Amino acid sequence: MMPESDISINQQLSNRDWKTYDEIVYEPFVEVIRDIIVKNKYKTVLDFGCGMGKTAYYLRDVFKLDIAIDGVDISEEAKKKGEKYYDNFYLKYDYKAPDKKYDFIILASIIEHIYDENLTKLLTDVKSKLNPGGSIFIVVPNIDSPQFCLFDSKERQLTSMGHVNLKTKGEWVSFLKTFGFTKFSFSFPTKFEYLERCTFFKSNLLNNFLRNVYSILAIFPFYYLRGSYWIEVK
Ligand SMILES: C[S@@+](CC[C@H](N)C(=O)[O-])C[C@H]1O[C@@H](n2cnc3c(N)ncnc32)[C@H](O)[C@@H]1O
Repeated sequence: MMPESDISINQQLSNRDWKTYDEIVYEPFVEVIRDIIVKNKYKTVLDFGCGMGKTAYYLRDVFKLDIAIDGVDISEEAKKKGEKYYDNFYLKYDYKAPDKKYDFIILASIIEHIYDENLTKLLTDVKSKLNPGGSIFIVVPNIDSPQFCLFDSKERQLTSMGHVNLKTKGEWVSFLKTFGFTKFSFSFPTKFEYLERCTFFKSNLLNNFLRNVYSILAIFPFYYLRGSYWIEVK
């Protein structure tokens, strides 16, 4: 049973305390997204659960990709700050993409914010809105990682980040297969920049030590132990 609507939980969190754009930290998945778009010559992109537009900012303003990109979010604050980065910014609460087709749909750090029942609506809808040959890019927390097991908990992820739906990698794959997706490509953050976000202790010294230890986990084959991972599905 759903204790509270995932939209109201996330609105409380996503409308609060927005930072200025410059304070938002770069995330290396934008480079993976750029490479997929370039390789496949994708032209139309949807960023669902786009927040204040960081991904669109990198794709168009920094990487200079020649694409059309729309954004969807439930947060009015996100719209206020992020709409300038999109061709169209939709405030939508119905777990549906806009009524058009796209080559590429980004679900970055969003599916863990939505209960299964509503996620079923969303994934069914986005799959139907993909152009032939298109793909969906998903970013999810890695709850099997040492970072999660040692320093985190489902309760903290729920109350501080609105993560209502945490699954293991295997559980996500089984869930995604029920929508007819058959091809899965996994990738992981392998850059040090990502670790700049991680603060576990009050002491800078301890944080730096832990970041350095953690950077070892960016090396194959350890990087699958990292705090989040990315899935391209077709
Ligand atoms: C963790 S943020 C990720 C933002 C962006 N994708 C990024 O990678 O920076 C999650 C975003 O999903 C939005 N969100 C949560 N539930 C949603 C829903 N049902 N429909 C659309 N957006 C939603 C939140 O308002 C928030 O902006």
